[in-house]
Amino acid sequence: MKAIGLYQYLPIENEKSLVDVYLDRPRPGSRDLLVAVQAIAVNPVDTKVRAPQTGAVKPSETPHILGWDAAGEVIDTGEEVEGFRPGDRVYYAGDITRPGCYSEMHLVDERLAGHLPETLDFTSAAALPLTGLTAWEALFERLGISTTGEDAGKSILVIGGAGGVGSIAVQLARHVARLKVIASASRTKSSIWAKKLGAHHIVNHRHALDRELQEHGFDTVDYILCLNDTDQHWQAMASAVAPQGHICSIVDNREPLALNQLKRKSASFAWEFMFTRSMYRTADMHRQGQILGRIARLVDEGVLKTTVNQVLEPINAANLRRAHAQIEAGSTIGKIVLAGW
Ligand SMILES: NC(=O)c1ccc[n+]([C@@H]2O[C@H](COP(=O)([O-])OP(=O)(O)OC[C@H]3O[C@@H](n4cnc5c(N)ncnc54)[C@H](OP(=O)(O)O)[C@@H]3O)[C@@H](O)[C@H]2O)c1
Repeated sequence: MKAIGLYQYLPIENEKSLVDVYLDRPRPGSRDLLVAVQAIAVNPVDTKVRAPQTGAVKPSETPHILGWDAAGEVIDTGEEVEGFRPGDRVYYAGDITRPGCYSEMHLVDERLAGHLPETLDFTSAAALPLTGLTAWEALFERLGISTTGEDAGKSILVIGGAGGVGSIAVQLARHVARLKVIASASRTKSSIWAKKLGAHHIVNHRHALDRELQEHGFDTVDYILCLNDTDQHWQAMASAVAPQGHICSIVDNREPLALNQLKRKSASFAWEFMFTRSMYRTADMHRQGQILGRIARLVDEGVLKTTVNQVLEPINAANLRRAHAQIEAGSTIGKIVLAGW
C-alpha cells in the first residue's frame, strides 16, 4: 500500500523530509479496524513529532509514519470487534503510540473511532476528530462545563480561536454550552473566521489579553481555554480568570508556571492531552468513540459545521510537505485536509 514517511528529521523544504513509500498491508489486532483511508487532516502534533526537539523520530531504515486524523471506510475487523463492520464509514484521531494514518490502509482500536456524520463526506469529516476530541474533553471534562446548557451565559476566553482546535472549541462553547464566547485572533482573516463560527467578541493575542478583555467590558471571565503559547498568556490568564474560575491549557509550558497566582482566587488549572486515554489505555478510552458519536449527531443536526478550510489532493509526500510548512508557520485558519490517493 502507498504511505508517506520519513527516515530522519530534515527541514520541511528538503524534499526528503517526507517521502512516498510502499508498505505491507497491516493486519488488525483483536479490537482493531482496518480502514481504507480516504482523507486525513494535518495537525501541529505531526510537525512536533517530526521535529528533532521531541526525539520521537530517530534515524531509521524503516520509515516513521505520522498522522493522527483520518476518515475512511472499514475493510476488515479484528475478531473481537463489536461496534463496526466492513463498509462502515468512520473517523478518528487514534493513538500516538501506533503508526500514523499517512497510509492507504490504517489500524485503529474500535473504541477510539466514531461513525462518520451522515451529512459529511470524508474530506469534511477528516477535519474534525483530533481537534473535536481535544475541544470536547477540554471544555466538558477538564473545565467541567455543562453540555446541557446549565452554564449558559457564563463567559469563556478561547485563546487561538481561529486555529484547528479553536475553530471547533468556539462552536462547542457557543452552540452547545451556550456561553458568551470571546475568541482571540490577531489578523482580520482569522478574526472574521472566528466570528463566523460563533465568537461574540474578538480580542488580539498580540496584546495583553487581560487588558483586551477589559476593553470589551470583561474584568474577568469564568473559563479560559488556552490553545497557544501557555507561557506568553499565563500572566493575563491569571489576572483575567474569575474567582473560582477555571483555566485549561493544551500546550506545554517552557518555563515553570506560577500556580500560586491562582490561589487567592481558588481558581483551578487543568491540562488536556487528547492522547491520554489511548496512551495509557484508560478504562474509559471508549469515551472517545462516544464523543465522536456526539459530534457526528451535532453536525447532522446542523449545530456544528466542519472546520475544513483548505483541501490538497492527492495524499502524497509533496502535498504533505506543503501542509507541514503551513502548520509550522503557525497561522493556519481552520483545518488543512488531504484527500484521495
Ligand atoms: N493537548 C492536546 O491534546 C492538543 C491537541 C491539539 C493541539 N494541541 C496543540 O495546541 C496548539 C494549537 O493547535 P491547533 O491545531 O489549533 O493549531 P493551529 O491550527 O496551527 O493554530 C493556528 C492559530 O494559532 C493562532 N496563534 C498564533 N500565535 C498565537 C499566539 N501567540 N497566541 C494565541 N494564538 C496564536 C493563529 O491566529 P492568528 O493567525 O490570528 O494569529 C492561528 O489561527 C498546538 O501547539 C498543538 O500542538 C494540543
